[in-house]
Amino acid sequence: MERIFEVDPWQIVTHQLDRKHKRLQESMTSIGNGYMGMRGVFEEDYSGDSLPGIYLGGVWYPDKTVVGWWKNGYPDYFGKVINAINFIKTNLKIDGQAVDLGKDEVTAFKLALDMHNGVLTRQFIVTKNNKQVQVTIERFVSIVQKELCALRYTVENLASEAVEIEISSMIDADVQNEDANYGEQFWQVIEQSDAADDTYLVGKTMPNDFGVPRFSVGVQIDHQTTMMADTGLQEAHQVGQRFKQQLAPKTQLNFEKRAVVVTSRDYSELDLVPNMQRIKQVVAQQSYQQLLAAQTNQWAKRWQMADVVIAGDDSAQQGIRFNLFQLFSTFYGEDERLNIGPKGFTGEKYGGATYWDTEGFAMPLYLSLADPKVSLNLLKYRHNQLSGAEHNARQQGLKGALYPMVTFDGIENHNEWEITFEEIHRNGTIAYAIYNYTRYTGDETYLLNEGIEVLTEIARFWADRVHFSQRAQRYMIHGVTGPNEYENNINNNWYTNLLAQWTLSYTIETLKKVSDNKKADLRLSDAELSQWQAIIEKMYLPQDEQLGIFLQQDGFLDKDIQPVSAIPADQRPINQHWSWDKILRSPYIKQADVLQGIWYFMDRFSAAEKKRNFDFYEPLTVHESSLSAAVHAILAADLHYEDKAVEMYARTARLDLDNYNNDTDDGLHITSMTGSWLAIVQGFAGMRISDEGQLSFKPFLPKKWTAYEFHINFRGRLLKISVTADRTDIKLLKGDRLAIQVNDASMMLE
Ligand code: BGC
Repeated sequence: MERIFEVDPWQIVTHQLDRKHKRLQESMTSIGNGYMGMRGVFEEDYSGDSLPGIYLGGVWYPDKTVVGWWKNGYPDYFGKVINAINFIKTNLKIDGQAVDLGKDEVTAFKLALDMHNGVLTRQFIVTKNNKQVQVTIERFVSIVQKELCALRYTVENLASEAVEIEISSMIDADVQNEDANYGEQFWQVIEQSDAADDTYLVGKTMPNDFGVPRFSVGVQIDHQTTMMADTGLQEAHQVGQRFKQQLAPKTQLNFEKRAVVVTSRDYSELDLVPNMQRIKQVVAQQSYQQLLAAQTNQWAKRWQMADVVIAGDDSAQQGIRFNLFQLFSTFYGEDERLNIGPKGFTGEKYGGATYWDTEGFAMPLYLSLADPKVSLNLLKYRHNQLSGAEHNARQQGLKGALYPMVTFDGIENHNEWEITFEEIHRNGTIAYAIYNYTRYTGDETYLLNEGIEVLTEIARFWADRVHFSQRAQRYMIHGVTGPNEYENNINNNWYTNLLAQWTLSYTIETLKKVSDNKKADLRLSDAELSQWQAIIEKMYLPQDEQLGIFLQQDGFLDKDIQPVSAIPADQRPINQHWSWDKILRSPYIKQADVLQGIWYFMDRFSAAEKKRNFDFYEPLTVHESSLSAAVHAILAADLHYEDKAVEMYARTARLDLDNYNNDTDDGLHITSMTGSWLAIVQGFAGMRISDEGQLSFKPFLPKKWTAYEFHINFRGRLLKISVTADRTDIKLLKGDRLAIQVNDASMMLE
C-alpha cells in the first residue's frame, strides 16, 4: 500500500517529483476521452524509468499466442491495443540544454489532475546555465472534439538575464509495447510532412499473419505561439517543428500544440490527410480558452448527472470521484464499436480488450449515471459481434454463440486454455446485461429485436454444452472454470449452471413477446424449445443440505477448508507467493463466485440463504481480483454487516490511489472502479430494481461519514438521494412523478 498523492476532493495532486514511483504517478494521472487516452507521461524526453503509453481505442494488433496454439480450437492470436504514435512528444531546451526531469533538479514541482475539468497540469522551476525558468504544461484530450489533444506551455524566465527557449514539437512513430511477444516496430510510416503549416505523419500497423485488418493513423500538429518557427524536423519515424525565442528577464511565453488524431476506423486510408486537415481548421477557429471552456462545460454536465458527495471522509470522496473520472475517460458510450478494457487507456495489461467485466460490473453503473444510449451501445457492441461469438462456439464443436472472454471483434483472443475453453460463465453475463438493461430502462425495444437474437444463440450454446447424467437424471456442465479462477476444470460450478438455466428460461419468456416474423427468423423448432425446457427443469445446481449452502462446484467441501485468516500474512497475496498448483488445490477463492450469482439475482434468495452462503464463502475469499470487493460490499450491506461492507468499500474505492495490490504502476483497474460506486449505491443505499421496475432503497450511513449524496438516472428521471445519520432525502430533479420504496414504505416522488 502506497499513497503518493495528496488527499483532495477534486484533484489528484502531488508536490513531489517522485522518480521512484514514476510509473505509479503516470498511471494515476492518466487522461482519456473514450476515443484515445494516455498515461501521465511527461511530454519531453525523460531518461528515468517510465512506461510510455498512448492508446487509441480499437487500434490493435494480433500477437502470436505463446502456448497451446497446436491444440484444436485454440485462438490463433492474442490481440492487444498497441502503443500509438506519440503525438505529445515536445522537447524543451533552455540556453541549448535539454530539460530532462530524469536528471534535472527542480523546485516548486506540482503535478495535478483536475478531475472536474479533465485537465492535467505540471509545473516546475528548473535551472539551466545558472538561469531559473518556470515551466507550466497543461494538457487535455477533448471530450467535445474526440480527435483533439491540446497542450499549452507557459515558460517564464525568472532570471535577470535573457534565456533562449527552444521547443521541438514532434510526432514520433518509433514506439514499443513492453508487454508483447514481439520486439518489432508496430508502425510503418507511409507519409509525412514537415511543412510549417501542415505538419503531419501517417502510419500503418505492420502486416500480420492472421488476416486481421491493419490500421492507419494520421496525426497532424498545429501550433499557436509567438515563438518563431525555426525549422521543420524530419527523421525516419518522426516529424515536427522547432521553435526558438529569446525570452527577456521576468517575461513569459506561451506555446500551444494541438494534435489531431484520425484513424482508418473512421476514414479510409486515403481520406486521413484531408480529414485531419479539415479538423485542424475547425479547431483553429477557437482559442485555447474556448476549447478548454467547452471541455469544462461538458465535464460539468457529466458530473451533474453522476457526482457522489461524501461528507466526513475526504479520502473516500477523492476515491469515488477518481473512479468515476477514470471510467468516463475510458468510455462514455459515443462509439458502439468501442468498449471498456480492464486497464482502459492507462496501461498495457489485458491488452485494451473487452472482458465480461463490462456487462458484469460496468453496465449497472452506466445505466444509472449516463444516458441509456450509453448502455445501449454496450449491448449493440455484442450484437454486432454475434457472428464472432458463433465462430467461437464452432471452434469448440458447439452450436450457438460463445461470447469471448477477451476480444476486439467477437473472436476469442485469449491464450490460456482455462480461460478460453472453460470460463464460459461469461456467456451468461452477456445475457444478464440484456435483462439488466431492460429491467432498468423499462424499454423492451432492444430485447425484442437484437437482444433476442443474442439470447437465442447463447441459449443454443448452453443447450449443446450441457450433458445429461443418466445416473443423476440431471443436466450437468463439466470441465469449466467459474469466476473464481483459483479452480480449473471443475464440474458443475453452481454459478455457471445457474446462469445457463436462467438464460434458457429468460429466452423462453422473451420469445413469448416477440413478433412471429422475428420468431421465424430465429428458426426455432418445438423440439428445440422443449429440450430447453427439459434442461431448465432438470439442471443440476449443487448444494449442501446440511450447511444450507450452494456448492461452488462438485466436491468443494472435500477440500481442506481453512479460513483465509489461517494463511500467514507474509504469504499474501497467495498469487504472488504460492505455486499455481498449490493455489488450485487450496480452498481459497479469488473473487465472488457463488456470491456473484446471488448478487445478480438478489431478490430471488431469502435473507437466510444469503447469510449462510456469505458466512461460508467470504472467510475463504482472498479478493485477489479487484472485481471481488464490490460484490461482497453489497451483500454485506444487505445482511447489515455494516463494518464488513465499509471494509470492502475501502478496498475498492482507493484500490489504485493507495496502490492496494501493489500493481497500479502498470495501469489502473478501470473495470473494477465501478466497485466503489456499486458499494455506495447498491450497498450502503441499498438500491434495488425489481423485475417489475420498482425502484427501492434501504440506506445506512457508514460510521465515519456524516452524509453522502448521489444522483441516478432512472427511466427518464434524475434523482438525488441524500443520506445522513437520521434521514434520507430523495428529490426528483427531472422527469415525471415516480413511485418508489424506501425501507419497505411506498412513496410518491412528485
Ligand atoms: C479476473 C477476471 C477478469 C479479469 C479482467 C481477472 O483477474 O479474475 O474475472 O475478467 O481479471 O479484469
